[in-house]
Amino acid sequence: MTATAGRQRVLSGMRPTGRLHLGNFLGALENWVKLQDEFECFYFVADWHALTTDPANSVQAPEATIEMTADWLGAGLDPERSTIFIQSLVPEHAELHLLFSMATPVTWLERVPTYKEMVDELGLESPSYGLLGYPLLQSADILMYKAQWVPVGVDQVPHVELTREVARRFNNTWKPVFPEPQAKLTQIPKVPGTDGRKMSKSYDNAIYLSDTSEAIREKVRPMITDPARKRRSDPGNPDICPVFDLHRIFTPEADRAAAAAGCRSAGIGCLDCKGVLLQHLLPPLAEIRERRERFPARPRGMVDILHAGSARAREHARRTMDEVRAAVRLTP
Ligand code: TRP
Ligand code: SF4
Repeated sequence: MTATAGRQRVLSGMRPTGRLHLGNFLGALENWVKLQDEFECFYFVADWHALTTDPANSVQAPEATIEMTADWLGAGLDPERSTIFIQSLVPEHAELHLLFSMATPVTWLERVPTYKEMVDELGLESPSYGLLGYPLLQSADILMYKAQWVPVGVDQVPHVELTREVARRFNNTWKPVFPEPQAKLTQIPKVPGTDGRKMSKSYDNAIYLSDTSEAIREKVRPMITDPARKRRSDPGNPDICPVFDLHRIFTPEADRAAAAAGCRSAGIGCLDCKGVLLQHLLPPLAEIRERRERFPARPRGMVDILHAGSARAREHARRTMDEVRAAVRLTP
């Protein structure tokens, strides 16, 4: 029996957006790392998906892929245990997507909420065929590896639901090939950015996994707090303070309770409180950053890891496509 036999499969992907921030880590990546202990995991860079809103994104893809992979490895994704790959290096995904497209009504895709959201949010006047097909390509990503579990945030649940319908449709139209996957919901803690809004690259309020301790200190120092604490002597309310949301994630109970009490009684100032937070926030981030820096891009670094992982993924993909072609039986 091989080491992986019997373990259930997990698959997930991220578009290559470049450096990841604390919100990306706590909302997804940290969980991906943990899942490696129990599951046979496939994690990939969804580089074709990055082109669905703007094909010119290909310009940034190589660099963004490297930056994101560095964060993955820094956080503890282990290429010995997990298959880490690039979608476009496994072109079988495109063939499976094409066959799925023949069996999928356009109305199913038009109904997917993320489609309308993207069109509205980005003000797209003439959304691409690829954008409409985004969740169907995702179905191909998932079903290619017959993954049972897809760790995602709630926003992605409709895509996993669609994947289940597509699997059923394929199995009924041709032959039963695909199991129905399930979303594995990641509990996403509230991760505020330095301005108190949700942490996001586009708000310029993010703490990155690649930030140095010094850079993080400089971001936390001016961070928004309870606006009622104008002066040091004003008591505050931790429940409405974004700094305290970070305490809830990083600071152990005893120190956190002391900070909350000090805030309410004006016994401590906000800078003291942020100092306590930094004591607990900096070490785990330093560990990620240091591990991150141990992987060069090339030679014999991340690029090789991604190519080796893609070759391994491709073996699985070839096997699935053999079954798929036998089920569809097009050629004499
Ligand atoms: N749509 C996902 C996101 O934006 C990325 C993705 C592409 C994905 N293919 C996938 C996630 C397959 C899980 C499984 O986050
Ligand atoms: Fe926020 Fe801490 Fe200041 Fe209270 S003392 S307002 S919890 S930063």
